[in-house]
Amino acid sequence: MANSLLERDAMVLAGIGKLRTYPLTIRNARGNRLIEEDGREVLDLSGAAGAALLGYGHPAVIDATQRGLTECASASDMFGASESAVALAERLLEIVPEATDHKVWFGHSGSDANDTAMRAITAATGRKRFLSFYGAYHGGVSGSMSVSSHPSQQHSLPRAGLVQIPYANPYRPISGDDAAKSVFDYLDFLFTCGCPPDDIGALFIEPLQSDGGMLVPPPGFLKELTERCRRHGILIVSDEVKVGLGRPGHWHCYQAEEFAPDVVTFGKGLGSGVPISAIVAPCHVMDFQEAFALITTTGNAVSTCVAHAVLDTIENEDLIANAQARGEQIKAGLRDLQERHALIGDVRGRGLAIGFELIRDRETKEPATSEAAKVVLRGYQLGVVFTYVGMFSNVPELTPPLTLSEAEADEAVQLIGQAISDVEQGKVSDEEVAAFAGW
Ligand SMILES: Cc1ncc(COP(=O)(O)O)c(C=O)c1O
Repeated sequence: MANSLLERDAMVLAGIGKLRTYPLTIRNARGNRLIEEDGREVLDLSGAAGAALLGYGHPAVIDATQRGLTECASASDMFGASESAVALAERLLEIVPEATDHKVWFGHSGSDANDTAMRAITAATGRKRFLSFYGAYHGGVSGSMSVSSHPSQQHSLPRAGLVQIPYANPYRPISGDDAAKSVFDYLDFLFTCGCPPDDIGALFIEPLQSDGGMLVPPPGFLKELTERCRRHGILIVSDEVKVGLGRPGHWHCYQAEEFAPDVVTFGKGLGSGVPISAIVAPCHVMDFQEAFALITTTGNAVSTCVAHAVLDTIENEDLIANAQARGEQIKAGLRDLQERHALIGDVRGRGLAIGFELIRDRETKEPATSEAAKVVLRGYQLGVVFTYVGMFSNVPELTPPLTLSEAEADEAVQLIGQAISDVEQGKVSDEEVAAFAGW
């Protein structure tokens, strides 16, 4: 008998299977639903970790892909000026209000955008050190991985000279009750005793730390932190790859935190499934040196036409407001569930970037790690897909397409509630989840 798609996948695709948290197959997808090999439809609350910003098969994306191939047809922005790439750069400069004397670089993934930003900043400032957060994820290539520190990346060492600080986590402050103060105290200590701040080129920030646990920092934390860094000439990079571009109920997540970045990086949702990333950064950084990142097919017509379509659709379909409204609806639903299920310790997020932290005891906040894997697997069995994040792998994460409807948001909450009840009643065994190592 021929092998199933999952068996063939396990035989030929490297390094992915173990990360999965359920046996999903994807034959096709439409709207906000994935269609499995056997025709079963599941509601996608992950959106491929936020990449499927407009869901699947959106007419604007299909049309833009076709136009990119037929009308524009440039393979690269490196060998000539093309209208779609230039106009997209102009447009990104417009939607980043801080971009006063800035330029744009295009790449293919959030990973290469953060990586390239690091190289440009090092060259332009002459400073070789970076500041980033424990639990951060900025990408999967050597540079961007080297300023990340999610527990899944223990196989790779941080870059030499990296300075790391805890992310202020209101639910689990590192000491005392004031999550922000404990981080500032630590930063003061580091700047005095650990690393001269004038050696640091940039602070990398996720304005909502996603893989570290969907952490929304306390009000004012990032504003004060960035001001403290700026005093030492440290540039501020806002990584908007996963939680930006309309998802937080603003164009950019840093706007919710009221800090002003020097550099903004985009990826994932900018192409809604088609690879494209971008850096918006000051000219003195971007123009310091030629050829700090040469990747032949950057700025190609398909990617740039699709990114235009994504920006158009966010505006035309009022998706920033929808992200805000659906996000509030889901959080309210999850808070209702929290009253009935002691397993839910915290519900948090901005717009359609939501996490709910699972714990075994409301006093000790012991992370409910295996329970999170079970809830995610049970959700899949019931017809809704999402995964989990967090330093203890105990925070189910929802980053659905911004096109999620009100009815789908209700359906999502209902199925999550059912999954939690089923796990509480022991309907998912340890053996069942053991097949999925997760992360
Ligand atoms: C905040 C953040 N930055 C960068 C990246 C890297 O993006 P990509 O995997 O598309 O290269 C990710 C991926 O999850 C991310 O969450």
